[in-house]
Amino acid sequence: MAKGDEPESSKKADESSGLILKDKSSGATWALPTPTKAEGKVPAQPTAVIVLPRSSNTQSLTVLDNRTNKLYEIPIENNTIPALKFKEITADPAPGAREEDESSKGLRVYDPAFQNTAVAQSKITYINGDTGVLRYRGYPIEQLAEKSTYIEVAYLLIYGELPSKQQYQNFFNEVMHHTFVHFNVTELMRNFNYDAHPMGLFISGIAAMSTFHPDANPALAGSDLFTRDEKVLNKQIFRLLGKTPTLAAMAYRHRIGRTYNPPQNNLSYTENFLYMLDRLSEENYKPNPKLAKALDVLFILHADHELNCSTAAMRHIGSSLVDPYSAIAGASAALYGPLHGGANEAVLRMLEEIGSADKVPRFLEEVKQRKRKLFGFGHRVYKNYDPRAKIIRNIAYEVFDVCGRESLIDVAVVLEKAALEDEYFVKRKLYPNVDFYSGLIYKAMGFPTDMFPVLFAIPRVAGWLAHWKESLESKDAKIWRPRQVYVGPNVRSYIPLDLREEEKDHDANKFVDPFSTKFSKRSLVATFDNKKSVSKL
Ligand code: CMC
Repeated sequence: MAKGDEPESSKKADESSGLILKDKSSGATWALPTPTKAEGKVPAQPTAVIVLPRSSNTQSLTVLDNRTNKLYEIPIENNTIPALKFKEITADPAPGAREEDESSKGLRVYDPAFQNTAVAQSKITYINGDTGVLRYRGYPIEQLAEKSTYIEVAYLLIYGELPSKQQYQNFFNEVMHHTFVHFNVTELMRNFNYDAHPMGLFISGIAAMSTFHPDANPALAGSDLFTRDEKVLNKQIFRLLGKTPTLAAMAYRHRIGRTYNPPQNNLSYTENFLYMLDRLSEENYKPNPKLAKALDVLFILHADHELNCSTAAMRHIGSSLVDPYSAIAGASAALYGPLHGGANEAVLRMLEEIGSADKVPRFLEEVKQRKRKLFGFGHRVYKNYDPRAKIIRNIAYEVFDVCGRESLIDVAVVLEKAALEDEYFVKRKLYPNVDFYSGLIYKAMGFPTDMFPVLFAIPRVAGWLAHWKESLESKDAKIWRPRQVYVGPNVRSYIPLDLREEEKDHDANKFVDPFSTKFSKRSLVATFDNKKSVSKL
């Protein structure tokens, strides 16, 4: 400890517990504050000097619990501390503590929204949010986007290495031979409302797939199914990579009232997807290779992003050992939200609403006044330009060459520049993320706005599967079960409804909505049994 760095407590030695800590190397001393006890009275203690034990292990943390004056040594590995070690730090409940106080059961780490908690060790994806670095299995995203294909990247993410030629061919063949879905899934997709959001269809289609593959259901085939039988595990990987574009294409065709095109296994992964979306009755239909390539690059960029909201959901759901279809349906639902994969849709709607570059300053003002959110900006991990956004911005112009310029790009460019120069965004390190430009490309390609999250979900299946496989094989595999801090009421006795009094500040009409008429005008003037009691509701 440097001179003059003594904690505040040393200046109030007379209020101290009588315990003095001495730093062995510098000789600096400081007094411990008076500990509080459950009974409220603190017994006087003789002055004692504790020489801080300097552990020979420099990769550790020495923690002093001021409640008990006990010291603990917590190991540091990979710049993390094991949260379970904190469970060893126990104390008597503080005076007046709630009955539910769990101090005696060990210290908990409170981290709402997992802002600083690592929940898995992973070898899949590395992000350096400060410098804007993204690597899959060690390979820079820029190199993969330029030189690889989505299917090769999927192999890399899931199996850990780039495939040999033969491995690649076998993997590609397997995926493309699992592109057909059961006829009844087709029927299910047909039965949604004509204007159902395609993400709802996609999620439902994947969830339904669990019922068509009983061989992949741990409920039927045993909870250790996927760790026992690698072939079964791989088959689900092929099926999910193969069938998700088919479901996505169905979600799209359903909206426009067109029959579904069967998959074409002689095309590339993204060509086949575009074929299923667009072919009417043409013979030998082949999608534009530049668009298929652009989509492939977009798929590479979206394939994984370590423990984002949906991938964490995948690991969480998968930890119960449920089948991967149910888990991917859950992960897709997490992706759907506007703060995550639904942001590309939200960006486009936001740009359309802004409308022209001259309206940008007013919009940004509203963002700063917290009336609006600038979608496509900000990230939990990136505090620099998202490297994916840079690549996407360049692809946008390549797509415009083929499909024509998307005029909203002008609004986006002005908006980006204005935000990057604005103190509000600079101070908070808010930069464009992957969703800022992707929607413009999708729009230029002619996709309807509500298909955008589906276009994010298809490639993310590779990442979800990679994390699912890794978590099943992990030495730390265990059901995910976070802890809570209970701050609700203490125990209380049930009072029967008849004996309960109306509280003064209680809104008795909370659930009565005079505008939600349950009956049509005609029913209100009709007669039927129990009409009085029902229409009062
Ligand atoms: N517009 C305006 N203010 C923002 C934005 C934004 N897009 N993002 C963050 N902020 C502000 C936020 O209000 C807060 O300010 P203050 O400290 O004064 O309260 C500060 O920046 C820190 O933000 P945060 O909400 O604590 O950050 P977070 O890590 O919890 O949230 C985020 C990350 C991505 C949800 C958030 O930045 C956001 O809502 N962005 C817009 C939605 C979006 O584009 N999502 C796509 C994410 S990238 C692709 C993906 O993973 O799906």
